[in-house]
Amino acid sequence: MADDWTELYRPRNMAEVVGNPKVIKELQQWANSWEAGEPQFKAVVLMGPPGVGKTSTALALARDYGWGVVEMNASEQRNADAIRRVAVRGSRSETFNDDGEYLSSKDGRLKLIILDEADNIFGREDAGGIPAIAELVANTQQPVMLIVNDFYELSRKSSAIKNDTLQLKVGKVQGATMRTVLRKIAMDQGLEVPQRVFETIIENSNGDMRAAVRDLQAVGEGNAQMGEDDAFVLQSRMSVKSMYDMMRDVLHEIDTKRARRTMIETDENPDQTMMWLDENIPLEYKDPSELHRAYEHLSRADVFLGRVSRRQYYGLWSYASDHQSIGVTSSKSRPNRGWAQYRFPSYIMKMSRSKALRNMRSGISRKISAHAHTSTRRALQDVLPFITTMFHSDHEFRLSMIDTMGLSTEEVAYLLDKKVDAAEVKRLMQEVEKQRPAKEAPEKQRRDPEEQPPVRAKVPEEKAPEKKPEPKGKQSSLFEW
Ligand SMILES: Nc1ncnc2c1ncn2[C@@H]1O[C@H](COP(=O)(O)OP(=O)(O)O)[C@@H](O)[C@H]1O
Ligand SMILES: [Mg+2]
Repeated sequence: MADDWTELYRPRNMAEVVGNPKVIKELQQWANSWEAGEPQFKAVVLMGPPGVGKTSTALALARDYGWGVVEMNASEQRNADAIRRVAVRGSRSETFNDDGEYLSSKDGRLKLIILDEADNIFGREDAGGIPAIAELVANTQQPVMLIVNDFYELSRKSSAIKNDTLQLKVGKVQGATMRTVLRKIAMDQGLEVPQRVFETIIENSNGDMRAAVRDLQAVGEGNAQMGEDDAFVLQSRMSVKSMYDMMRDVLHEIDTKRARRTMIETDENPDQTMMWLDENIPLEYKDPSELHRAYEHLSRADVFLGRVSRRQYYGLWSYASDHQSIGVTSSKSRPNRGWAQYRFPSYIMKMSRSKALRNMRSGISRKISAHAHTSTRRALQDVLPFITTMFHSDHEFRLSMIDTMGLSTEEVAYLLDKKVDAAEVKRLMQEVEKQRPAKEAPEKQRRDPEEQPPVRAKVPEEKAPEKKPEPKGKQSSLFEW
C-alpha cells in the first residue's frame, strides 16, 4: 500500500503549520498559560472546515510543548461513557506517564486531551455526549482541545461549553500558501509539476489542504514526468474529493442507505463512478467471496449502463447506480479494515494522456502536410518519425522547422520529448524569436554591433537554470551531406 502523502507531510511542529498565524499565536499563548499553571481557559475549541490543519495543529502544539496526548476521534466509540473513561480519566492521571509508571506531579508532563471531530461525538443518538464534555471542560486538570467543523450545534446545546472555552476559527488555506507547500512536496518527491497542474489542484481544493495534497498524490505518484494533460485529468468534471468520500462510504463502510445517499449527492455520472469502483474495489475487499460479490454488482450495473446507451433511456441509470452503491456496499458483512489509498482510475488517466498525445501528433502532421504538399495521414505515418529524429539531432533544422512551420511551444516540447516548461524548450523558442526579426530586417540587425545576450526579462517563468546554448555547428544538417 502506498504511503499516504497527507500523513507523510503532516506538519510536525507549529512552525510547519501554514496559514492562520493569529490562531497559532493565540494557541501558543494559551499553552503558555497552562505551562505557567494559570490557564485562562481550560479548553479551546478549534473550529473550521476540513483539511485546514486542525488536527495537525493540535498534535503539533503538544509536541512543541512536550505534552502527552490523549486522543479521541469520532471513528472510535462515540458515546458519553467513552469520553468519561478516556478523557476524564486522562485528565486526572497526570501522575502516571504513558507507560503507566508513577510520576510525582512535579515530573508529570501536561497531557493535551484532544476530542477530534467532536461534532460527531455530540451528534445524533447519544444525548449523553455533550454533558460529558461539559463536565470534562469544567473539571479537567489538563488542557483540552475540542475540534469541530461547526461550532453552532455544540454551542446551541451547551452554554457551558460555549462560555467556558476559548474559541478559535481556523480559516481556509490561501492559494499562495498552498502552492508553497505543494511545491515542497513535489520537490521532495522529485516531481516536475507544470504550473497548470498546481493551479488546477489549488482551484479544486477550495482551501482544503488535505484535498490538495491528495490530488497531488493522485496525479503525481509514479508519474514524475507530469504533463499539461494531467491538469486536464484533474479538471475533468468530477471533483476528486467527493469521489474519495464516495469510495469510502461504498467500499469501506456498510451503511447502504448512506452509501446510496452519498452516491446521489455526489452527482457523478455512473460511467465515471463505475471506473472509480472498478479501480478501487480490490484495494478494500480482501475476502474473495466478498470481492466476487462486489464485482458481480458492478457487472450488473454495467449491463444497465449498456442498456442506457443502447436505448437512450436514462431512467435506467438509477438501477446502475443502486447496484454500484447499495450492491457493492452490501457485499461485505462488516466494515473493511485498514486504510486504503484510493486511486484515480488508470483507464481515464491513460485515455486522456493518449488522447492528448494523439491530438498533438495530428496537429504537427497537419502543419507538415501543408508544407510538404502531402496528406495529413501520410505526414503522420511517413514523415513525422523522420522529422522527430532530425529534430532531436540537428539544431539548425530545429530552428528552421519551428520558424517555417510555426510550431508552438507545446509541439516543440513534444518533438523534443521534453516538458513544456523545460529550459531547453524555452531557450529554443527564444532563439527562434531572436532570429525572426533578423530575417525580416537584416539591415537593422547588422547595425547592432554586438549580438544581444538573451534578454532576462523576457523569460516569464521564475528561474530557468541558465545552461549554455548548444555549440552551433557541432552537428551539421542532415541535408548537407
Ligand atoms: N495548515 C496546514 N499546514 C500544513 N499542512 C496542512 C495544513 N492543513 C492541512 N495540511 C495537510 O493536510 C493534512 C490534513 O490536515 P489535518 O490537520 O488533518 O486537517 P483537519 O484536521 O483540519 O481536517 C495534513 O496532514 C497536511 O498534509
Ligand atoms: Mg482533523
